[in-house]
Order: sequence, then C-alpha cells, then structure tokens
Amino acid sequence: MSQKRILSGMQPTNNLHLGNYLGALKNWVDLQKEGAECLFCVVDLHAITVPQNPDDLRRSTREVAAAYIAAGIDPTRSIIFPQSAVPGHSQLMWLLATMTQMGKLNRMTQFKDKAGKNAEKAGLGLYAYPVLMAADILLYKATHVPVGDDQKQHLELAREIASTFNHRHKSELFIQPEPYIMGEAARVMSLQDGSKKMSKSDPSEKSRISLIDNADTIAKKIRKARTDTEALPDTVEGLESRPEAKNLVSIYAALQGKTSSEVLSDIAGKQFSEFKPMLVDVAVDHLSPITTRMNELLSDTSEIDRILKAGADKANEIATPTINETMEMMGFLGLS
Ligand code: TYM
Repeated sequence: MSQKRILSGMQPTNNLHLGNYLGALKNWVDLQKEGAECLFCVVDLHAITVPQNPDDLRRSTREVAAAYIAAGIDPTRSIIFPQSAVPGHSQLMWLLATMTQMGKLNRMTQFKDKAGKNAEKAGLGLYAYPVLMAADILLYKATHVPVGDDQKQHLELAREIASTFNHRHKSELFIQPEPYIMGEAARVMSLQDGSKKMSKSDPSEKSRISLIDNADTIAKKIRKARTDTEALPDTVEGLESRPEAKNLVSIYAALQGKTSSEVLSDIAGKQFSEFKPMLVDVAVDHLSPITTRMNELLSDTSEIDRILKAGADKANEIATPTINETMEMMGFLGLS
C-alpha cells in the first residue's frame, strides 16, 4: 500500500482538555515523528452544529490551532488548517449525504447524547454531523484517522459511506480509512465520575483538566478528583472495578508514554494521598510547557492566521481534484 496519509481534527468549542490531548493530539505528534503525511484541521464547521457566538468561534479556532502547534505539530511538516477554508468539505458532504441512509444516522450515539430527549428540536446539522466527518476524511483519501475511542462509530460510518460510493459508481475512488485508536488513554474519564468521559460540555470545570490550566489549578483539580479508599493494586486487573483509580493510573501512565501495568510496579500499595501529588508533578511537568507555548503563540494571532492560510492552500490542492473526480463520476458537467 502507498504511503500513510493521516487526517484528524478537533472542534473549536470550549478549551481542549486532557482527554483531547491524550486520546488524540499526543498521538498525532508521534505519527508526525514517524514521517507520515499529516493533515490536521480545526473543524469549525462541526462546531456550529450547536449555536456558537461568532467571536468565541474565531477565538477558539485560533486557540485550537495554537494547541496543535504548542503540543508539537510542526506546520512545516504537517498541514494545519480550518475546515471552513476548504470548500470541498461542505461540497463533498452534500454529495455523500445523498447516499447515507437515515437509519444509519439514527444509530449514532453521539447524536443521541447531544440531542438528548429533545431530538425533534435538534438541528439538521447535528444529525448530519457524521456525514460531514466522513467528507473530511474521504476528501483527502486519508488512510488512517487517529482519534479517541468515542469517535469509533463515526469512523465506521465513514468506511460504509466510502464503500457505498465506490460500489454505486463501480470505482475505487475513496479509500476505507482505518481508525487509529491508540495509547493508554483512548478514553479519559471525568475526574468527578469514572463512568463518564472527560468532556468539554460537562458543566463542572472540576471534571476536566484544560490545556490552559495553570499549575495551581491542575493541582487543585487532581486533589479534588474522586477516588476510592483502597491502596493502588499491583496489577491492571486489580483496577477493573475501580473506574476512578483506573482513570488516574492510566492518565499517569499516558503522560509518561508508559502502560498502566508498567507504572503500577512503581506505585502499587500507595494510598491516593501519596499518589495524587505524584500525578500532579507529572501532569504539571508535561502540560506546563504546552500551556506556556500556547499563550506565546496566541499573543500574535496574525502568525497563527498565516499558518492556517498556508495550510488551507495546501489542503485545497489535495481536496480539489477529489471533488472534481467525485462530481464527474456522479454525472455533473463540471463547468466551474
Ligand atoms: P472532539 O472535538 O470531540 O475531540 C477531539 C479528539 O479528542 C478525542 N477525545 C477524547 N479522547 C480520549 N478521552 C476523552 N475523554 C476524549 N474526548 C475527546 C476525540 O476522540 C477526538 O479524537 N467528531 C470529532 C471531530 C472530527 C474529526 C473529523 C476527527 C470532525 N471531523 C475527521 C477525525 C477526523 C470530534 O467531535 O472530536
């Protein structure tokens, strides 16, 4: 098979948190190091599936781009761009929407979670969201998509849509993207409830560590994190019925690029009163340089805009031929 092409993205809504970082961004940096061709977009068109204040959206889009760069995505090696700057995303979405069954969208758990009981009042954009995500990926013929565990179902749909198109048009235009769900922390849980994933939309700030938190805030949130009363076990199996303990251990491991089982050999037998300060140290050491760099980058938004514009130009060069090919196969005259 030809070279890997990686594509992924994050929504510019609220601040990025440790789940976004450990479940996705940190893995992107590793993939970039391996030399894969990488495209990372800030998915602003996805963000507007729930109402956004325009100024907040602009600020958040730059913040997410700054977080990518601060975490180690190098704009000279990877393409960083806002989704909305490449018209192909919305164009392809419409084309693919015409061949996506509503039955499949009805099964998407993220829609059910976000729409809640009031699905009748949810916007069409929120419902069609997974088709836009499929378009993001297929537009670039991405081979691998590094995401957290919560995006698995959307990836499966993208694969199905690719296959429907190819089958209908007797072509091999679209590549079936492989999900890359990597590392120790593919699903980071809330610090307040080990049964809920860490999420930007959780009303409690204490539930998550944000990439903009300073050392004091990180320490406070970890100190207040929910735990049980037992000492840490010496095997991963010993964490099985202890969701909060399991979460903190896997965060501790992932921040150090280790597995839970590796770190348990050092921390087995410790009480949380002893383990939490160790976790604070590791989290602050790892995250502080990222936060500092992010703030530096955000002090010059014109430089961020320049990087995003250059990225969008490169992304458009890859996207335009795919749109043209798709439209030609579907029977459009292609006079634009
Ligand atoms: P978003 O913006 O919700 O999250 C960005 C990335 O962070 C991961 N993530 C987590 N990983 C581990 N633990 C958590 N608690 C956690 N919370 C979030 C997500 O899995 C994701 O990888 N639909 C996507 C954005 C998207 C996209 C795409 C991704 C749009 N188009 C194309 C890949 C390819 C989303 O809402 O991610």
